[in-house]
Amino acid sequence: MSSSEADALVTTLDDLVEEALATFDDVASLSGLNEAAAAVLGKRSSLGAVKQQLGALAPDERKVVGRAANEARTRIQARFDERQATMQEAERRAQLEAERLDLTEHTSSRRLGHLHLVTQTWQALEDVFVGMGFTVAEGPEIETDWYNFEALNFPEGHTARDMFDTLYVDVGQPESTLLRTHTSPVQVRVMERSEPPIYTISPGRVFRRDTADATHMPVFHQIEGLVVDEGITFGDLAGTMEAFTKAYFGGDFTSRLRPSYFPFTEPSAEFDIRLPDGTWLELGGSGMVHPNVLANCHIDPERFSGFAFGFGIDRLALVRHDVDDLRELYRNDVRFLRQF
Ligand code: DAH
Repeated sequence: MSSSEADALVTTLDDLVEEALATFDDVASLSGLNEAAAAVLGKRSSLGAVKQQLGALAPDERKVVGRAANEARTRIQARFDERQATMQEAERRAQLEAERLDLTEHTSSRRLGHLHLVTQTWQALEDVFVGMGFTVAEGPEIETDWYNFEALNFPEGHTARDMFDTLYVDVGQPESTLLRTHTSPVQVRVMERSEPPIYTISPGRVFRRDTADATHMPVFHQIEGLVVDEGITFGDLAGTMEAFTKAYFGGDFTSRLRPSYFPFTEPSAEFDIRLPDGTWLELGGSGMVHPNVLANCHIDPERFSGFAFGFGIDRLALVRHDVDDLRELYRNDVRFLRQF
């Protein structure tokens, strides 16, 4: 075989390489690439055909063409590897993308609740009185006639009992057991079980046979105050109410006591506060603990004296937050409750 034949084979190899590289660059899929590679590098490929002709060449020419054939194979193989890697990566990505599941879900962030307006007011009141040195006591919501009326100096059949629209419970003698109409019975329970000095407040739920309207609810809340010690005067009551008013409402509020009547206090007074705009608001009742009440609780009225007061928590919450209908507090409309 002449050397021109060898040259022709080397040229063919160069063409083969160019063609193979161009084909590899053109194919669009891995399977296409593999097919193209088999056609170029496989046994029956054009490269294989060139190799088959090597045997017919003179030894030194065989060397030249053989090396050229090996180089051609190496270049083709390198491009194949490169393309294969690129296409495998692209295919893997496409598959991942296709199989991707979006498991995230957008929900609005969690909303924290808070204490009811009445509970907040109850706790704020406790804080003020505890800060003034009072302790906190609670009593039962179902009471006997003794604690709710009798011990508090309401004689049986006395018209003062009509001040309260009492809800009786069907237990024992008729009208012997009731839902407490005020927190004052806790005064009796505290005095019964403790010795003066007594400085106690008693917040709690009370009940009256009232139809719900803007200013009344059949179930509402009161806070009771009781002080029993030696030498307690009406001046102490006035000073305590004034200190409370300033501490709870603010320095621009003031208070006054106005003559009134309650069976369990003598003298008795209504407790009013004056708002910064000059208007007066009745908050509750108060007075010096009646000697009969002290005696009913086994406290010597000759040695000890005391004062007491009681007012509505719900109404206070309304005043504080400028709400004009008591029923709003119990409708449980979150749009209302959320505001406080
Ligand atoms: N218990 C009374 C009521 O519910 C309020 C009251 C008045 C309480 C005078 C007192 C007091 O402690 O001294 O109307």
